[in-house]
Order: sequence, then C-alpha cells, then structure tokens
Amino acid sequence: MDFSISISASPHQTKTPAVAIGVFTDGVLSTAADAIDRASNGAIRDVIKAEFTGRAGSTLVLRNLEGVAAPRIVLVGLGKQAEYTPRTHARAEQAFAAFCVQARLTEATSTLAAIDCPAAPVRDRARSAAAACGEATYHYDASFGKPDLNARPKLKKLTLQFANAADRVAATLGLAEGGALAHGMSLARTLGNLPGNICTPTYLGEQAKTLGKQFKSLSVKVLDRKQIEALKMGSFLSVARGSVEQPRFIVLHYKGKPVAAKRGAKAPAGPIVLVGKGITFDSGGISIKPAATMDEMKFDMCGAASVLGTLRAVAELGLPGEIIGLIPTCENMPSGSANKPGDVVTSMSGQTIEILNTDAEGRLILCDALTYAERFKPSAVIDIATLTGACVVALGKVNTGLFASDDALAEALLAAGKQSMDTAWRLPLDDAYQEQLKSNFADMANIGGQPGGAVTAACFLARFAKAYHWAHLDIAGTAWRGGGEKGSTGRPVPMLLQYLINQA
Ligand code: BES
Ligand code: MN
Ligand code: ZN
Repeated sequence: MDFSISISASPHQTKTPAVAIGVFTDGVLSTAADAIDRASNGAIRDVIKAEFTGRAGSTLVLRNLEGVAAPRIVLVGLGKQAEYTPRTHARAEQAFAAFCVQARLTEATSTLAAIDCPAAPVRDRARSAAAACGEATYHYDASFGKPDLNARPKLKKLTLQFANAADRVAATLGLAEGGALAHGMSLARTLGNLPGNICTPTYLGEQAKTLGKQFKSLSVKVLDRKQIEALKMGSFLSVARGSVEQPRFIVLHYKGKPVAAKRGAKAPAGPIVLVGKGITFDSGGISIKPAATMDEMKFDMCGAASVLGTLRAVAELGLPGEIIGLIPTCENMPSGSANKPGDVVTSMSGQTIEILNTDAEGRLILCDALTYAERFKPSAVIDIATLTGACVVALGKVNTGLFASDDALAEALLAAGKQSMDTAWRLPLDDAYQEQLKSNFADMANIGGQPGGAVTAACFLARFAKAYHWAHLDIAGTAWRGGGEKGSTGRPVPMLLQYLINQA
C-alpha cells in the first residue's frame, strides 16, 4: 500500500476513482460532503432525504454526479455527530476501504480523516486511516495451491485529503506511522496464519534475518540449539526437546538515532526489550490438549510475530532509540524425549521448576528469555504471549491482559492501547498469588491450579523479571479469531508501536 496526502478544499475537482465523504445522522454533512453537495446541485442532501441515514459504518455510492470530477462519491455514515469517536472514524475508513476492494479500485481518496474528532488529533486520525485501510486490504493466500489472483485486493494507493494546509505536517507524520503499522501488522498476521509445518522455529529465524537485510538499522542473530545450550537455558530447552523441529533463540537489535538523555539523568536510559512467545505449535506435550480446535495452536507464536511486526514498523519509521526483540521459539510436542509431569528443570536463572503440566510451556520458554534480557540493562521489558486460556475466560476477545511490576509502565501501555484502539485491561500481580506456585520438589511449580490461571502464569514470569521494569501482555484472547473468520488479528502491534512512538 502507498499512502499520500493532498490539500484541497474542492473535493469535487479531485480526479480519482472514488472520493469518500462523511455524513452524520440527522442530515449533518462534513465539510467535504457539503462541498460536493453544492457542486452537484444538492445531490447529497437529496439522497440523504431519500435513503441514506448516516448510520455508523454504512456506505452508499453515487456515480457520475454532475459537477463532480470523480466518477464515484462514496457516502460513509458516521453516526451521531455528538457521539463521534476515533473508533467510529476508523470504522468509516474501513468501510470505505472495503468498498474500494469490492469495486476492484486501484486507488481512492478519503476526506474522512479531515473531520474533527474531539478525542483524536489529525496525526492520530491519519495514522488510524492508514491502519484501517491496511486492515481492509489484508489478504492471506500463501498456502493455497492456486491462489485466486482475482481475490487479491487491487487497492494500492490511498490519498487522505485535507482542506487545511496547516494539517499537512501532522497528517504526513500520522500517515507514515499508519503505513508502517499496516506493514508490521500484515507481517505479524501472515506469520500467525501460516501453518505450523511451514512456520517453524527455523522459518521464524529466517524471517528475522530477512528483516535484518531489509533494514540497516536492524541487526539480527539467530542462535541454534548448541548456542542455546551454552547459555544454559534449561527450561526453554526442556520444551524444545520433545520435538524434532530445532529450536531457535532470535535476537533483534534495533538502533535508531540516540534519544537525548532526560535532564538530570546520569546515563542514557537503557533499551526497551520486547520478548515474544514463539511456540510454533502447542499440542500440550504429554499433557496433551483435546483435538477440537487444536489446529488453532499454530497461533501460539503470535507473541513472536508481534515482536517481528513491531520491529519492522519501528525500522521503517526510523524511530530514535534502541529496541531489542527476543524470541524463544520451538514446538511443544509429546514424544519419548518430551517433558513429563513431575520433571524438574533448571532455568538459566538457576531457579528450578517442577513441570506439573507440560501444557504450561509458554512460561517455560519465556522465563529464560527474561533472564537473557538482563544483560541489556533495559529501561523496560515487555513480554507478549498467548499464555493462558484463563485470560480468555477473564477478558474475552476484547482486551489483552496486562500485568506489570511498574505502574508507570502499565499506565503508558494502557494509554497506548486506547490511543491505537488496541486496548488492554490491567490484572493483579499480588504476592499472595505466588503461594499457588509452591512445589515440594523444586523452587516453584509451573502451574498454580485453576483459580486465577492468568494471574499465576504472570506471577511465575515475575520471578524471572525482578531486575528491571517489566510488563506482560497475555494476548491469548486477542491475537487471533476462531470460527468462520479464523485468522490472526495482528494485535498487539498497534499498542506496542504506539507505546514506542510515545516513548521516542
Ligand atoms: N498456548 C496455551 C494458551 C491458550 C490456550 C491460548 C487456549 C489460547 C487458547 C498455553 O500454552 C496453555 O496451554 N496454557 C494452559 C495453562 C494451564 C495448563 C495451566 C491453559 O491455559 O490451559
Ligand atoms: Mn500450552
Ligand atoms: Zn502455549
């Protein structure tokens, strides 16, 4: 996708296959809709009287209006003006992009981001317009025998039109961010959607290397089993041991321009580290999962995919600062060499773990990555993982579960989530929950029983994240959709990128 800005107060003169104009309910027209209405002798007001109510997300196309250069004017409903939110705007942009895809257009112009929205300045609106368009044009066909080329969206270029030249700077910035976000989300979604026999740990390592070649600011190391053994990541390796697929430990190092040290600070702040769970298939291991919907456990690497997608976006944008991505990746399979319930393993930190359930494998691979993160003296570490079914029970598919040892980090992530419409909800980490992880045979057990399953998983990780400010995102409910719309969502790339932009 290619995104650009145009400044014009005359949308009726714009030569483009389609122009989107916003219409609120009760006949309230946006500035651009009013301009088209006047140029076309009241065609817009006529159709509003006759049949278009302005319901949020609805569309109606008018063709070949007299006095209008574009062959298609697409009315997009915005709901009640008094209730206009960033989400309604995003929904409107998405509806327009969906129309363009359906009509097989290659390019189009939207005036929707020019409409005032109290909760979102121009930069946010431009960013969200590009992201919404990326969402609507995403198409997966990588594993079909004969991809249907006609089903591929043709839409390649979206122009955002503003009437006011003063909006150009903020719009350009937001659009670059939205474009990078769309590319990052698309990468994360495709990696998630690829089947487990293609998207293996080795494949993820190769994808990371490819990113490193694409962007000079990104250097990538992919460690193999021998190198992981040398690091003494005994917990991670215990999970990997059950599969014939070779594990990988991926280290991505992004270096942008240095950020000015905060006033009064003695040394520049350390890097932000993102850690992504990369289980490319989670069968449960010896504590095997039921067969129904087990296929969805190919999505158990969506945390890893979100790290790759976010770093891709960061590199495309050239954000200042230093960001590190860590991805422990392997399969969780049952076999003669797999972990058994009752086994005790020694993590890189030296802490021992009694494995009471081999299906609680995410925390076993993440804990060693969290220990590895210490060497960077990070200013913050955020891990992202499809960690627990219990988080889906608690929060459903709406909010990502957020846990944090640091209130400021939690607030910053919650705010970034709201701003990018990729929201999280904070859950507790009280010490009292730690008791559930008590083991008679090791420093801790890897499960804490049914009650508060998402919390005890986070409490397990907390024991390995004491050396820095840390947050944990449980994306088990938000990283993919099941059922007829089965597929990866690209979440939480929007939240993570927004957080990093806000820090930069
Ligand atoms: N990858 C799963 C978590 C998961 C399950 C995400 C279902 C989305 C849907 C994770 O490895 C897992 O199996 N967790 C167990 C933990 C339990 C054994 C303590 C779970 O949630 O059932
Ligand atoms: Mn599992
Ligand atoms: Zn898992």
